[in-house]
Amino acid sequence: MKVLVTGGAGYIGSHTTLELLEAGHEVVCIDNLSNSKVESIKRVEKITGKNVCFYEGDIRDKGILTKIFTEHKIDSVINFAGYKAVGESCQKPLEYYENNIQGLLVLVMTMREFGVKNLVFSSSATVYGNPKSVPITEDFPLSTSNPYGSTKLFIEYMLKDLYKSDNSFNIAILRYFNPIGAHPSGLIGEDPKGIPNNLCPYITQVAVGKRKELGVFGNDYNTHDGTGVRDYIHVVDLSKGHVLAVNKLAENPGLIIVNLGTGVGYSVLDMVKAFEKVTGKPIPYKIMPRRPGDIDECYADPKLAKEVLGFKAEKTLEDMCRDAMNWQTKNPNGYED
Ligand code: NAD
Ligand code: UFG
Repeated sequence: MKVLVTGGAGYIGSHTTLELLEAGHEVVCIDNLSNSKVESIKRVEKITGKNVCFYEGDIRDKGILTKIFTEHKIDSVINFAGYKAVGESCQKPLEYYENNIQGLLVLVMTMREFGVKNLVFSSSATVYGNPKSVPITEDFPLSTSNPYGSTKLFIEYMLKDLYKSDNSFNIAILRYFNPIGAHPSGLIGEDPKGIPNNLCPYITQVAVGKRKELGVFGNDYNTHDGTGVRDYIHVVDLSKGHVLAVNKLAENPGLIIVNLGTGVGYSVLDMVKAFEKVTGKPIPYKIMPRRPGDIDECYADPKLAKEVLGFKAEKTLEDMCRDAMNWQTKNPNGYED
């Protein structure tokens, strides 16, 4: 199949592009490079020995989307393009609504015009807000506490309405938990700009001496050691979940909404220990105040993804930490090197 991957040069997009190529699909990418470098795509081509048809452009630009859908017979679209930083979304809400929601609207309206009706959308566990219990199943109540989360939730509503109005669409809404790690080659990985917001890239930067110590945001949560618990999933497993979703959409399943997680939660201090084990060195840290908006525990019930997509995360926490370290060590400045 020919798959259009928007945001394909980004962290999850580049890994998914690679897995799609390995599974025998053809990939067309569009990315405006606002949070990535085209080098990631070059490396995907190097690893796979296959070509990616790359367009530098913005999904809010109907002109370039029209050009892509005219030049290629696209079977399915995976939409990763969007802004994703929770903190930044509180400072720049309008930019987030404009990029994420407007981008999705222009994309889906152009798809409809060209009769392309298979879409995978990157949603997030953030749509569960502060869940009443764990593990989280897909029928839990949805809520949002920041503009980033609101964009995900509003888009979910929009896609559900679209499906109701036209059930010839096949839509997979994938709610990711916490993707971490990198491709085992160490050639592609997460390349955050400036100080990382997320736990794992911060730890890997501490591990290689780029940052002095990790700040642990709170040790008074209602968890086994007081630090926040999350469901970390290897980005390669997550990417394989997208390949399964694309294959599933070809069977005309209608609307699918599933969690992509492992079903296991680890605390911040569990993660520190796991990285210490892999690196053989201590990871210095200090306990800091809670980060506003963080919740105690968040992990998936992964059963529905197994039933619907045949998805099961295979990689271990050790794989995640080792592959993250391999990428960080080989690319101390990300794709700048
Ligand atoms: P990323 O920033 O690495 O990738 C997003 C890509 O989209 C970037 O390459 C960026 O340049 C591009 N982009 C942004 N706006 C665009 C636009 N208007 N037109 C074209 N390209 C545009 O982020 P990621 O971690 O790979 O996340 C991918 C998707 O998954 C995002 O939608 C994100 O919200 C979602 N998600 C990520 C996580 C996570 O923890 N990484 C968790 C849940 C959901
Ligand atoms: N944390 C620290 N120190 C840091 C960074 C994080 O202690 O420097 C803690 C947080 O308090 C939290 C845990 O590590 O307990 C994980 O934090 P992340 O920032 O890595 O991830 P979040 O669970 O907060 O959020 C991520 C994405 C969101 C997405 C969510 C669910 O950033 O966009 O996963 O998919 F919505």
